[in-house]
Amino acid sequence: MDCFNSMVAGQDLEVPIINSKHIRYVNLDNAASTPPFKIVLDKINEFSGVYSNVHRGSGLKSYISTNVYQKAREIVASFVGADLNDKAVIFAKNTTEAINRLSNIFCFKDDDVVIASQMEHHSNDLPWRKKAVIKYVNITGNGELDIEHFNNLVNKHKGDLKLVTITGASNVTGYINPIHEIAKITHNAGAKLLVDASQLIPHREINIKSVNDIEHIDFIVFTAHKLYAPFGVGVLIGPRDFFNAAEPDHTGGGTAKIVTLDNVYWGDTPERNEAGTPNVIGAVALATAISFMQRLGMRNIEKHEVKLTQYLINCLKRLKNIKIYGETGDDYYKRLGVVSFNIENMPHGLVAAILSYEYGIGVRSGCFCAHPYVLKLLNIDKIGFEKYKNQVLNRDKSQVPGMVRVSLGLYNTIADIDRLLNALDNIVEGNYFGTYMLNRKDGSYAPKNCDFNECDFFTFGNETVREK
Ligand SMILES: Cc1ncc(COP(=O)(O)O)c(C=O)c1O
Repeated sequence: MDCFNSMVAGQDLEVPIINSKHIRYVNLDNAASTPPFKIVLDKINEFSGVYSNVHRGSGLKSYISTNVYQKAREIVASFVGADLNDKAVIFAKNTTEAINRLSNIFCFKDDDVVIASQMEHHSNDLPWRKKAVIKYVNITGNGELDIEHFNNLVNKHKGDLKLVTITGASNVTGYINPIHEIAKITHNAGAKLLVDASQLIPHREINIKSVNDIEHIDFIVFTAHKLYAPFGVGVLIGPRDFFNAAEPDHTGGGTAKIVTLDNVYWGDTPERNEAGTPNVIGAVALATAISFMQRLGMRNIEKHEVKLTQYLINCLKRLKNIKIYGETGDDYYKRLGVVSFNIENMPHGLVAAILSYEYGIGVRSGCFCAHPYVLKLLNIDKIGFEKYKNQVLNRDKSQVPGMVRVSLGLYNTIADIDRLLNALDNIVEGNYFGTYMLNRKDGSYAPKNCDFNECDFFTFGNETVREK
């Protein structure tokens, strides 16, 4: 299925490397953001001609846009098996905003408990702090969720437990959580479940199931920029009754049915929860990407990515002096193609820089907005933490611990992975050309005397009138 490659924008981009050659760029940073599908770009272009503000406009364009926006909600709902009779699809800016919105709307009493895990992205941890008493599920030595500890926490806090919030898959180790098993335990304790599906949804079929099923998911959030539609939309799905019973956290145009000088009658969700002019083009982009992925078949995408992941991990394991973090067993359906590692005695930032400047490969390095999880996987103790904490607070990130993360998308190929493996093979042997300088402030590395200019690839800010 290597043909997925031609469906994504920018796959023939050639970039310079420091021996002055040019080389095809390989993007292995899909857990951060994916490039757009070409079909999404085409659809946005086509839609632009009929785009107008939604809801109360009386022109044809406004009718079209209103209907298209509603249709986008239906497509998004169908992607996760949500029934729009009892679930609302609320568009936000991204996952982070969607979770913040939910945390603002949720009504907590003083002793109410939220259970999260130690593997959460900061976006599914920080919004819950100070809103409720937060308890974290431990992770096991190989980076998996400790289900026994989860059960213990649930039993201990039964009664006060309001919400469990868990990532569908880790953005560090690619480990997939058993969300339906978690749902059952959560519901048996009378609480609700939020799944942060940001990482999981581009790679696996998700069905949030009917509310009558004990394994259903109450709330789910995800983001379009990881789903081949990076145009500023995130999604929050949850029970209509829940949103209709709560005050909206953002108020303003579009949220109310009637407003007088001393009263306001809120509208129904989702409009109640989407203050201001919505991002209709972003919603069209996301719905187009989703329809396209449904046509490709999520099972086909999964199969292709599992094949790539298996190849990547098996080959990485054979390279010497490389430590891969998290579970690397044989069940590649239990994990995503998100793989974090370090090369012995080499700073993660230096490895990432060499991959970029000498091999044209884009990866990510650092702690991936999951500091507690990464520090735990790295076995950094309190003393080690204090040392680096003080440096960072003094604006010196030169010693920040971290990892190099490779993350696959559906369009990646075995050839992409071979490029990476060849590069790592050389780097492990100390074979690289550049003399790299460390920027202590941000911890990044760049080669001396490097004069790459982004204007060679993209000019911006001096637009001219197009000739007819
Ligand atoms: C698991 C997870 N949750 C949340 C987020 C935040 O998503 P967004 O940038 O769309 O707010 C990310 C982003 O990488 C993520 O990987």
